[in-house]
Amino acid sequence: MVSFIVFGASGHLAHKKTFPALYNLYLRNTVNRQSFYVVGYARNYIQPQGEETKIYDEFIKRVSYFCGQYDQADSFKEFNKYLQGLEKSTDPSKSLRIFYVALPPSAYVSVGNLIHDHAYLPDGKTRIIIEKPFGDNYDSSIKLKEELHKKWKEDEIYRIDHYLAKDMVINIPTLRFANPHSLDALLNNHHIKSVGISMWESGGCEGRVGYYDINGVVRDVLQNHMAQIFTVAAMDEPKSEGPDDVRYEKVKVLKATKPASLKDSILGQYTAGQDKPGYKDLEGVPKESKATTYVATTLYVDNERWKGVPFVFDSGKSMSKGKVEIRYYLKGKDSGVFSDVNQDHYISFTVQPNQEVTLTAFVNKPMSSERSCVNASLNLNFKEQFAEEMKHKRDAYEILFEDAIKGNPTKFVRYDEVEYAWRIFDEILDSPTQPLTYPAGSNGPKESEQYLKSHLKLIQ
Ligand code: BG6
Repeated sequence: MVSFIVFGASGHLAHKKTFPALYNLYLRNTVNRQSFYVVGYARNYIQPQGEETKIYDEFIKRVSYFCGQYDQADSFKEFNKYLQGLEKSTDPSKSLRIFYVALPPSAYVSVGNLIHDHAYLPDGKTRIIIEKPFGDNYDSSIKLKEELHKKWKEDEIYRIDHYLAKDMVINIPTLRFANPHSLDALLNNHHIKSVGISMWESGGCEGRVGYYDINGVVRDVLQNHMAQIFTVAAMDEPKSEGPDDVRYEKVKVLKATKPASLKDSILGQYTAGQDKPGYKDLEGVPKESKATTYVATTLYVDNERWKGVPFVFDSGKSMSKGKVEIRYYLKGKDSGVFSDVNQDHYISFTVQPNQEVTLTAFVNKPMSSERSCVNASLNLNFKEQFAEEMKHKRDAYEILFEDAIKGNPTKFVRYDEVEYAWRIFDEILDSPTQPLTYPAGSNGPKESEQYLKSHLKLIQ
């Protein structure tokens, strides 16, 4: 019997991601329909909306709400009784409670303690899923870990980073380590001159100003989503696919990485452009706000595989387009036949908007008797090659909830990954001065163009 409890059940995330993901687990029979319950714990009662299918109606019968306060022991004691009511006909050792805490981080410890004190299953299993950000810098993340670890064991805490369950991110270890003599053979400092990791979003910060103004782009996506992509893109082959071995290799990358520095980073904030408002035009943003909505920075991994190869990150809101991509730029040729032609060829893993693997290369233009090298690309597009599978595309949250129910934390973030990632980005979390500006709908501050070219060692 599985009770999936959603804290913050009246929030935006619950409507957009959480409930659809839980419904899909039910719809696809990923969970046992007869013994699956979803309970929203919220301060307000809400009525979920949705398609009127038979299964949906059945699912809705298994969804209920409990009104309680987030900070009162009595509410949690009552809640425990409520859950016991659902579990009454189940063998206690077979019960699993998953508490998904999608609340502001300041609430994690107190809610975590109250759950543990009053709603923990002594005979069954209890897990807690928490949403990022896990702390707001290195020091606070250590405190948060210590507080949570007072009650919870590490293997009961599931820190969610939904980027780890995106199709392409799941696929990178396979693309690399199942193809050791092709793709992965190239991914090292003998063949790669630089690696670019980009996460551009075309949307701005509308509707999230309160959160964004305190956090900025580095806390919002660089320390977590991009750092996770980075570790998967740079790690060595783990001994097994199990959570300990995979996360051991990811942590090794973070440990070997020199922290980012302010003087080698570009921080920006968007102004109005292309009929879109600037960040400071949004309601609630203080006129003197130094919040960064764009960042470019460079990291070096001091290990045998990557020594000397810059990993260049750039990410921004309100950019010209949305894209999430890793590009490994291949070294050029400096002697022999064809050393006269040079281009910035690369292998890329595109995470969004499409899922693609591309290798760019020279080819002699067909039908030309003379030597005529042109650029071409070898491309694997998931939608084209896996059309049938991609019709049943699953959202990252659905995949992660399934893993949490099954007790597989591989795609969740371990405490030491969080800490090392904060350590790397601590110096650039906040801009000490007004960030550079860039118009909404552009490619970032104009200074970033030269920064990226030179750090990626692109042909100028
Ligand atoms: C969230 C960030 O974690 O990830 C958002 O808080 C960002 O600012 C979002 O837009 C991106 O996720 P996705 O899945 O839409 O690419």
